[in-house]
Amino acid sequence: MTVGNGMDPRYVEALGPLRPLVEDDSLTEIMVNGPEMVYVERKGKILLTDIRFDDESHLMRVIETIVSSVGRRIDQRSPLCDARLLDGSRVNAAIPPIALDGPILTIRKFSKDPYQVNDLIGFGTLSTEAASFIQACVLARANIVVSGGTGTGKTTLLNVCSGFIPIDERIVTIEDAAELQLHQEHVCRMEARPPDVNGEGRIPIRDLVINSLRMRPDRIVVGECRGGEALDMLQAMNTGHDGSLTTVHANSPRETLSRLETLVLMAGMDLPLKAIRQQIAGAINLIIQLNRLKDGSRKVVSICEVIGMEGEMITMQEVFKFESKGADPQTGKIIGEFNPTGIRPRIIDRLFDMGIPLPTRLAQLFPDRRALVAAMSETRAPAA
Ligand SMILES: Nc1ncnc2c1ncn2[C@@H]1O[C@H](COP(=O)(O)OP(=O)(O)O)[C@@H](O)[C@H]1O
Ligand SMILES: [Mg+2]
Repeated sequence: MTVGNGMDPRYVEALGPLRPLVEDDSLTEIMVNGPEMVYVERKGKILLTDIRFDDESHLMRVIETIVSSVGRRIDQRSPLCDARLLDGSRVNAAIPPIALDGPILTIRKFSKDPYQVNDLIGFGTLSTEAASFIQACVLARANIVVSGGTGTGKTTLLNVCSGFIPIDERIVTIEDAAELQLHQEHVCRMEARPPDVNGEGRIPIRDLVINSLRMRPDRIVVGECRGGEALDMLQAMNTGHDGSLTTVHANSPRETLSRLETLVLMAGMDLPLKAIRQQIAGAINLIIQLNRLKDGSRKVVSICEVIGMEGEMITMQEVFKFESKGADPQTGKIIGEFNPTGIRPRIIDRLFDMGIPLPTRLAQLFPDRRALVAAMSETRAPAA
């Protein structure tokens, strides 16, 4: 974030001791715990700075400046405030009497250049081959769920996946707090609204998902499914809005399925479990699982394909998986490879049908069956 991007110089001045932190693009988070403890996060590590406010009222003035710059207020009667700044950063403030040891301010800074697919490949989060496979699946309009725990990089990967959507498609994005940064031009961004100080005016994600269906979307991207909107999202995926993308908080692909079940139940429609599972099985094509490994690295550990139902159960097959070879004794870094499991992904036939190219090794592992059949009948033809 720089002063140049439209920020009022008086505002920047009023940030006081926070100014250098707000202007430092290498920081991802600023955390103020009372006037004397200011922490920052840089490259995933939390550091205590030597920045101090004169006293509590000094810190309060800075918080009021920030909050009022986006037309919000914070005071003893409503001591909590959650807001998005003009530059996209998220701010949360909690003041006494709720905050016991002085005002607490948390700024999640908006990163101007989010990680791109090559960054993730460079970090070892996913292999080039897996990235190409995911890209091919996005082009083939697969419905994809990115799954992982908090801070595993779901939103970042969702952003990368959304980046694969062709520029001639109309994309509607729906988020709780706008984080996605798509480079395409034809994007309609929507953000849910929390209730106001009187507890009114809430517009949940679910209403936005329902509304998005009337916006002629080619693709619907939902930042995270964490409630009843999962039902509307699945219905959309099942009724022609293929190629939709979202994230779910779960620790394994199997858990993603049960989490989706729970979320659909939150819609309060009293659907039988089997019907819910049919919706899920019919809608979702791929689950991409992220994990944070012991060495702190974020990795795609599995790519699973949802294939259908067997009795009451949703069936799935793992098509890629991360195989750990243990930690490097010197660096502690976990070494491993992300490989196809050898199971032929169902989507491969769709890729061939649509003429979407596959990474070489995958094309060798899973050749185009129709081409094989054609070749066989050609070789047989002269003999007949
Ligand atoms: N693959 C990655 N490697 C390293 N850092 C990452 C990676 N993906 C995301 N991050 C960083 O981790 C933090 C959390 O990422 P985010 O995508 O918001 O996670 P989630 O949506 O799962 O909570 C951010 O600071 C982001 O820059
Ligand atoms: Mg997220």
